[in-house]
Amino acid sequence: MSQISIAIDGPAAAGKSTIAKRVAKKLQFLYIDTGAMYRAVTLYVLEHGDKIIENISEHIDITFGINDEVYLNGTDVSKEIRSPEVTNSVSRVSAIGEVRSYLVDMQRKISRTDSVVMDGRDIGTTVLPDAEVKIFMQASPEVRAKRRLLEETARGNTIDLQTLTDEIIRRDQIDSTREISPLVQADDAILLDTSYLSIEEAEDKIIQLVEDKLEV
Ligand code: CDP
Ligand code: CDP
Repeated sequence: MSQISIAIDGPAAAGKSTIAKRVAKKLQFLYIDTGAMYRAVTLYVLEHGDKIIENISEHIDITFGINDEVYLNGTDVSKEIRSPEVTNSVSRVSAIGEVRSYLVDMQRKISRTDSVVMDGRDIGTTVLPDAEVKIFMQASPEVRAKRRLLEETARGNTIDLQTLTDEIIRRDQIDSTREISPLVQADDAILLDTSYLSIEEAEDKIIQLVEDKLEV
């Protein structure tokens, strides 16, 4: 049976993972958070040094749990991969060719056996260029920084809006200008600006697109 793939790309805090997870649940597809995979590699590199990247497949195994927990070599690292240290280094590590080819292969393999909703930066352009539905999710930097501020405050962290805005803009800049599969909207992706959409509205729009496309 052929599998169906939905690709969701876009910059930080556009709403990709929140909405992708809900769409996957509704369609009973597998949700794959590729950002979490790059974060897990970054965590390992911060602990063991860049040298391990030369033979990355011998060092790193990444799997997901049933509640989207991320396992790095068998240990649940879902919390650790969201630390400021990982966030500050993830775009640098993600620009390295060996890291990308290792993870892209892994992501493609998953999509061969399961229907997926996959989110990231290069899913529609590189990982799954034949995805049935491609979304490029966007929101203004101000809105995205405010969303992150709410999340950090809820976690009990004190951080100011300007620092978060600067971090988001810096990461978007590295992600969009890197040499290998930069963050760009695929020619056949549909632009979805979530700045003034609720999570439910954005989810409904994607489900509608999927239904139109697949006539389900
Ligand atoms: O959730 P947030 O927007 O903070 O980012 P993420 O989706 O967890 O991704 C973290 C970082 O991983 C991004 O800023 C990119 O540098 C990198 N990434 C990538 O290069 N390619 C992907 N397909 C997904 C993430
Ligand atoms: O995965 P990505 O970095 O693109 O964003 P996210 O982590 O899914 O969303 C960032 C934050 O924005 C989350 O706290 C979402 O609940 C919130 N959000 C929102 O308030 N309204 C939306 N339409 C989408 C996301």
